[in-house]
Amino acid sequence: MGVKILAIETSCDETAICITEASGTPEAPSFTILGNALLSQAALHAQYGGVFPNLAKREHQHNLVPMLAEALRQAALPASAPILGKSDLPKILERETELLQPLSEFLESHGKPAIDCIAVTHGPGLEPALWVGINFAKALAYVWDLPLVPVNHMEGHIVAALASDERSKSIAPMSYTLEATSFPLISLLVSGGHTELLLVKALGEYELLGATRDDAAGECFDKCARLMGLPYPGGPEVSRLAAHARAHKLPPTFALPRPMIDTRDYEFSFSGLKTAVRRVLEHHLPALGKSDLPKLSDDERAALSREIEDAIVDVLVKKTLAAAKDKGAQTIIVGGGVSANTHLRERLTEAATDIGATVLFPPRELSTDNAVMIAMASYAYAHAGTFASAENIRAQGHLSL
Ligand code: KG4
Ligand code: ZN
Repeated sequence: MGVKILAIETSCDETAICITEASGTPEAPSFTILGNALLSQAALHAQYGGVFPNLAKREHQHNLVPMLAEALRQAALPASAPILGKSDLPKILERETELLQPLSEFLESHGKPAIDCIAVTHGPGLEPALWVGINFAKALAYVWDLPLVPVNHMEGHIVAALASDERSKSIAPMSYTLEATSFPLISLLVSGGHTELLLVKALGEYELLGATRDDAAGECFDKCARLMGLPYPGGPEVSRLAAHARAHKLPPTFALPRPMIDTRDYEFSFSGLKTAVRRVLEHHLPALGKSDLPKLSDDERAALSREIEDAIVDVLVKKTLAAAKDKGAQTIIVGGGVSANTHLRERLTEAATDIGATVLFPPRELSTDNAVMIAMASYAYAHAGTFASAENIRAQGHLSL
């Protein structure tokens, strides 16, 4: 019998709930996904050109109960009769005013499902968004009398990179196992909020080698995309156009810097790249008013996208390889939304092969934010019985590993 975990992720603009059955040792576990529901708010935030925290908070409040209902429907677990008369619920949800009523109604018709614990992301991320998931987790833990595991979102991305991709999609339910890898390994975490190189001595033992001094790699993709008039999130858009430019061998019209590529450290800086893109656009289109969107031709936009992607990937690959060599790591893992980038996957794999190292990427569906990775990261803690009391769990926007 495994451990059944209900995991909740609301650190940014995805509302995600997963129910998984975990089994095996924490070193070589396997996870059967019983129910998995995810709703991205990206389209809503697109009009602001990035994630707007209070909108994210409101949307998580609206979406959590439907996501829970969907995950439970898929899992079809046995449940008790509804547990009524839990009077502290309004207090637990006093700051999530729009969540109280739908959750109360839900709990009046749904009993406690056969799960063993609740895992929830407590940071890093947007605090108003994190709080919704945390208070929702506390409410469920209170009514259903279940223990809580707070999970670091970045540890989720690390664990996702170790998840094997070799399952058969035709066999339901879907399951993952974690790759048995030899430590130490180098972890490159690249998302909308983070760009970090870490030395992973074991799961749970991390040493930060370096990080970005300003913008994250994903943020750079998003900001450059915005300057070119492309929608949020910009990473997939820039990547799609860059692939078009490569496929059609468009001429290299633009040249961008590779910030900090030659510094002998593990630090990054991507804000200058965005500024350089702005300068290119202004130079290219001198009549451009500040508020005008640049009217690049489709080919020009594709060529610029390729140069942006090349610049970011060049820097990420060089520093990651240097870290692997310096620290004697045979394995490199890549986590976070930017790990979905095909060009980064190809370039890093090629470069690592040259030094005899292996690179592991998350399965595509676990690259960007999701609750499966939160469930997987919680297992070692749940297995060891390391739970946190509700009053000690707080949203920590800048939580580090
Ligand atoms: O990990 P994630 O889903 O959320 C955060 O925790 O930030 O990462 C989102 C970031 C966004 O900046 C998005 O543009 C970027 O990941 N991203 C990509 C790709 N897919 C998502 N960047 C480059 N290429 C992609 N294919
Ligand atoms: Zn993330």
